[in-house]
Amino acid sequence: MRIALTGSKGQLGRALLEVLKEDEVLPLARPECDITQLESLKACLEKFKPEVIIHAAAFTDVDGCELDPEKAYAVNALGTRNVAVAALESGAVMVYVSTNEVFDGTASEPYWEFDRPNPVGVYGRSKLAGEQFVREILSRFFIVRTAWLYYHGGNNFITKIIRAADERGSLRVVTDEVSNPTYALDLAVAISKLIRTNFYGTYHFTNSGYCSRYDFAKLILELSGRGNVPVEPITSKEWVRVAKPPLFTPLRNFAGAQIGITLRPWEEALKAFFQREPGLMRSDGG
Ligand SMILES: NC(=O)c1ccc[n+]([C@@H]2O[C@H](COP(=O)([O-])OP(=O)(O)OC[C@H]3O[C@@H](n4cnc5c(N)ncnc54)[C@H](OP(=O)(O)O)[C@@H]3O)[C@@H](O)[C@H]2O)c1
Repeated sequence: MRIALTGSKGQLGRALLEVLKEDEVLPLARPECDITQLESLKACLEKFKPEVIIHAAAFTDVDGCELDPEKAYAVNALGTRNVAVAALESGAVMVYVSTNEVFDGTASEPYWEFDRPNPVGVYGRSKLAGEQFVREILSRFFIVRTAWLYYHGGNNFITKIIRAADERGSLRVVTDEVSNPTYALDLAVAISKLIRTNFYGTYHFTNSGYCSRYDFAKLILELSGRGNVPVEPITSKEWVRVAKPPLFTPLRNFAGAQIGITLRPWEEALKAFFQREPGLMRSDGG
């Protein structure tokens, strides 16, 4: 399959490059292919004639989006419109990767694909605006929402927890922010299966099960040999940050499961991640 891939240097982009080895993949990245510049994007795609465009590029810094809403909308909303226009003009199916943060986090059960989005922050609102462009411009698309992504070499929750543990020796982590930690490799495998179907529409792909940031941090420390590092449970009210992310946003994979696409439990995925990361392990941590 001929696949163009935006965000090819990001966490999911690199995981997709690893998974789509049998396909003909055109990696797109800045500075040559800036999604905010339609002409640059079209020039990048001109000769390739993709059958599928996977759009994994985004402005993913949630606090940064809150501080710079114009950049958030330029990249996440208008940039996605540009990718959708490019997909329309090249006749390609588009995959748009979206987020758990399109929901407001006030539910008591995980969100499924039929729940109504109601984002509370700039990041979630700008990503939802991207979804709307995709729905308005294209008839053949997949919108894949995911959550709490991590991959090797990424700047993610795992690397932040390990860095903080090694620098400070103890941690404070929130117990009331809850979602699904997701290994980008597993998400990439699920996307690779999805694009070989014609079941267009919206999907929730995360590793199965969910947990709080606190539980996630505890398992990261245990699996990386730092189980003796003390972790104080706190609430998000006690954790000062620019953005106020929605609190309870686990996603339920209903639509994918109907066509046989499921992801393994988050704890198993995290173990698999650490098996490939001997450099992150500490042996004296209990
Ligand atoms: N990370 C998460 O926890 C999470 C959770 C839910 C959903 N998602 C979604 O999943 C997707 C992949 O996330 P990720 O974690 O792989 O993100 P990431 O590691 O931050 O990578 C995003 C990539 O997008 C590129 N990019 C940003 N602005 C661009 C522009 N104007 N033109 C071209 N490329 C641009 C970045 O390139 P530069 O290196 O040049 O900046 C970067 O390589 C995104 O759509 C994100 O919204 C992520």
